[in-house]
This record gives sequence, C-alpha cells and structure tokens, in this order.
Amino acid sequence: MQVAIVGSGYVGLVAAACLAEIGHTAVCIDNDAAKIAALERGDPPIHEEFLPVLLERHRGKTLHFTTSLEEGIRKSAIIFIAVPTPPSESGDADVSVVESVCQDIARRMNGFRLVVVKSTVPAGTNNWIRRVLQRNGVQAHCFDAASNPEFLREGTAVTDFLYPDRIVLGCDCGRAAEMLKQVYQPLLDGSYAASKNAIPAPDDALVPARLILTSSASAELIKQGSNAFLAMKISFINAVANICEATDADIEEVVDGIGSDQRIGRKFLKPGIGYGGSCFPKDLLAFRAVARDQGYDFRLLEEVKRINEEQRRLFLRKVRGALWTLKGKRLAVLGLAYKGGTDDIRESPAIGIVQALLREGCEIVAYDPAAMKRAKAEFQPCCSIRFTETAYEAAADADALLVLAEWEEFAALDLERLREQLKHPIVIDGRNVYSREQMRKAGFCYFSVGRPETQPDVRSAIQSSDAAA
Ligand code: UGA
Repeated sequence: MQVAIVGSGYVGLVAAACLAEIGHTAVCIDNDAAKIAALERGDPPIHEEFLPVLLERHRGKTLHFTTSLEEGIRKSAIIFIAVPTPPSESGDADVSVVESVCQDIARRMNGFRLVVVKSTVPAGTNNWIRRVLQRNGVQAHCFDAASNPEFLREGTAVTDFLYPDRIVLGCDCGRAAEMLKQVYQPLLDGSYAASKNAIPAPDDALVPARLILTSSASAELIKQGSNAFLAMKISFINAVANICEATDADIEEVVDGIGSDQRIGRKFLKPGIGYGGSCFPKDLLAFRAVARDQGYDFRLLEEVKRINEEQRRLFLRKVRGALWTLKGKRLAVLGLAYKGGTDDIRESPAIGIVQALLREGCEIVAYDPAAMKRAKAEFQPCCSIRFTETAYEAAADADALLVLAEWEEFAALDLERLREQLKHPIVIDGRNVYSREQMRKAGFCYFSVGRPETQPDVRSAIQSSDAAA
C-alpha cells in the first residue's frame, strides 16, 4: 500500500521506516528541510538500533522523504499523523499542530483519504479531526478518521514496532478497520517475522501480534492509560525502594518477590532516579488534564509525579551522604540520556542532577555513549563540566563516580580499571546497574537505590593491588 506519515520525529520516522520494511511504500513528510535533507542522505537524526539498516534497505526505493505535504499525500490513501503534542501551560496536550496538519490535508485532498492519528492525543481528538476536515470543505464520504496509538520505546523502537505486544486500531467504521488491518497484515499473520531478512525478534516477542479493535476514543485512552500506568509502576517501586533503604531491606529481593506474582509482573519495577523522556512526564500531565476536563480529579497521577521528582532530591542527598561536602569535589558522571540506549536528553533526570551538582560547586566530568552531543548544547561553556570519550577517562582522579543512565556498556566496564582511575573508590549508582556483591569484591564503597550500602571486601582489594604491584 502507499502510505504517508506526517512528522519525522521518533514515532513518525520509525513508523515510516518500518512500514516500508513490511512491504509498503512510505513517504515521510516534515517541514524541517535540514532534517529531510539529512534523511535523504541516509543520516538518521536519532540514535536507534536497526534504523540505519532500514534506511539503507528502503531509502530511495519504497521509503521517501519530502517537505511537501501535497506531494506526500497525493498518492497515499492512508495518512498517519505523527506530529508533536507538547504540554501547554496548564498541562494539557497542545494539539494545535494536529489541527493545522488536518487543515492542510483538507485543502490538498484529491480523493478518499483515511486520516490516522499516531501522536499521543487526548480522548476526543478523532471527533475533532472529523469536524476540522468537514469545516474545511471535505465531504463526510470522502474520508475516515482513526486512532492507531504507538507503544514504541526509544532505543528499541524498531523491534517494538515490528514485534508489538498489541496493535490497537481505534476505528469508528468498518472501512477504516479493514484498511488498517491490511497495513499491519504482515505483523498480524506472522509473515514478516518468518521472512528471510526480517529484523531479529526479541526473545519475548509475541508473534503474530495481537490485534485490538476499539472505538477511536478507547484507543486514545488506551495510550494515555498505558503510559500513566507504567509511570505509576515506576513511582510505586521507587517509593518501596525508599522504605527498603530505611529498613535495610534489599529492593532487588523485594522486586523479585513482588514481581513473581503473575498479576503484577517484573517489568517496569526497576527503581532509580525516576523516569524522564519526552513521553511519561508530558503524558501524565495531559491525562490528568483530560480527567479534569471531564470533572474527575485524578490525584493519583499528581502523586506519581511528586514521587518521581522526589527521587532526584533523594539521590542528591545520597551523594552528600557519601561525600559530606560537595563544593570543589570532582565527580565522574556516567550517563546523561534519560535512559540507556538513546541519545535523547529531554526531561532527563541525569541532566537535572548534574545541573544541581554544578550549582553546589562540583566539577563534573561526564561520559555518555550517545547523548554527549545533545548534552553539550545544554550547558553554558563557562560551566564546570567536561566531557570525555570513555568512562575510564571520566573517572580519572574523581572523588566519586555517579551512574545516572542504565547503559549496557556501563554494566560491562572493567571494574578494577575503573577503581584504579578514581581518587576514591566510591560509586553512587542511581540505576542499580551493578550487583552489591560485584562492587564489594571489586573494592568499592557502593551506594545504590533501595539497597543497603556496601563496603569493599578489604581482602580482595588488597589482593588485587598486590597483583598489580
Ligand atoms: C515510553 C513507553 O514505554 C512506550 O510504550 C511509549 O510508546 C512511549 O513512552 C511514548 O509514549 O512514546 P520511552 O519514553 O521511550 O517509552 O521509555 P521507557 O523505556 O518507557 O522509559 C521511560 C523512563 O522510565 C526512563 O527514564 C527510564 O529510565 C525509566 N524507567 C523505566 C525506570 O526508571 N524504571 C523502569 O523499570 C522502567
């Protein structure tokens, strides 16, 4: 099929590349000319596993990029809208870009079109889209509108798209449902997964993907409800982690016990410095605003947000607890992205913590495998922050090492080498990347989230320094 995707952010770009991968001809439209030019050259603007492979496979063949909405929608019967819906002053999602794209589509339509919203939007948006199209001269029989929320995560976006837990199609008429089922057929019948050059499926992939057909309003709520629930799981476990610290319990053991209940599950119960990114913080506010507009005060969501913000403050307190005074201390920071596996620093708890430490007079030496370019732009040149090419360089002569994002690369570091770099063998881990046992053996004073503080195993530290001598 021929499909158009308006917006080349995370969702739009990944959707366009994956739709080409499952056999469609996709055109991705964005009004950012520099971004489109880069994509036409094959330079992905984001760090995302498998995206370069998909661009290489399909760019210029069944995957095209353009700044012209007209060109993009002329031949495409289905138009996906994947533009940003940032928070407004009051917290609700600003859907003005969605509206203006619909007005533009209405002016350029030359036949029947199915307009599908992929952006995260408040319940009721589909009804507004119908109204906007009609107000702009499109007759009711010339279009359908549908909601097809996306559940991909940054860092694993391509495999999340190609091997989803579920495909939600919010359609208020049979024709829209049939068209969208056809789009996703290779994922719904498992034929994509069985194809020769398929991107490898994650171990826990559900093949074929489950189809969930709903009304458009339900689909919109499924998306907002999913993100709010996941954020709530994280805040819940962070609150439990804080109680663990006060009672000398170990959150890893507690999560193992709680998560073994199949009704609860282990996923998204990883404690840390809180969630960040372009979705959870914004979507939580937007969901609360939707509830408020309907006359329901969803206060639980406010508490989820409060606990999340508290995690950063508690982490800073932990740093102070480990180092006493902060002024003039040199701190190595590993991880600046809002989580491992991405170069995205939007609403990153790591950035917030680094800013607070700089205000306290610390000197920061930071390393992140992918987010450094974006992070550099975030700090004034006069700030006491330097960036290094490796984790070991960041650790050189530092008073302590802070882990702020859960990159696999950090878990695989040579801990002996890391310890030798540091001025003092102190690690404060905001993401529980290491086990306490591992850090004890490697000779570190180790502070983490929801677990008792660990002191070095003196014997192994002496043995390793003897061996080095
Ligand atoms: C999130 C959702 O997981 C996706 O399903 C959704 O499609 C997406 O938002 C969106 O709405 O577009 P994403 O923001 O990419 O995806 O990242 P997550 O992997 O969900 O992580 C979000 C934050 O929660 C990160 O800061 C991460 O470090 C933190 N987190 C996650 C925890 O602190 N603990 C956990 O157990 C899991």
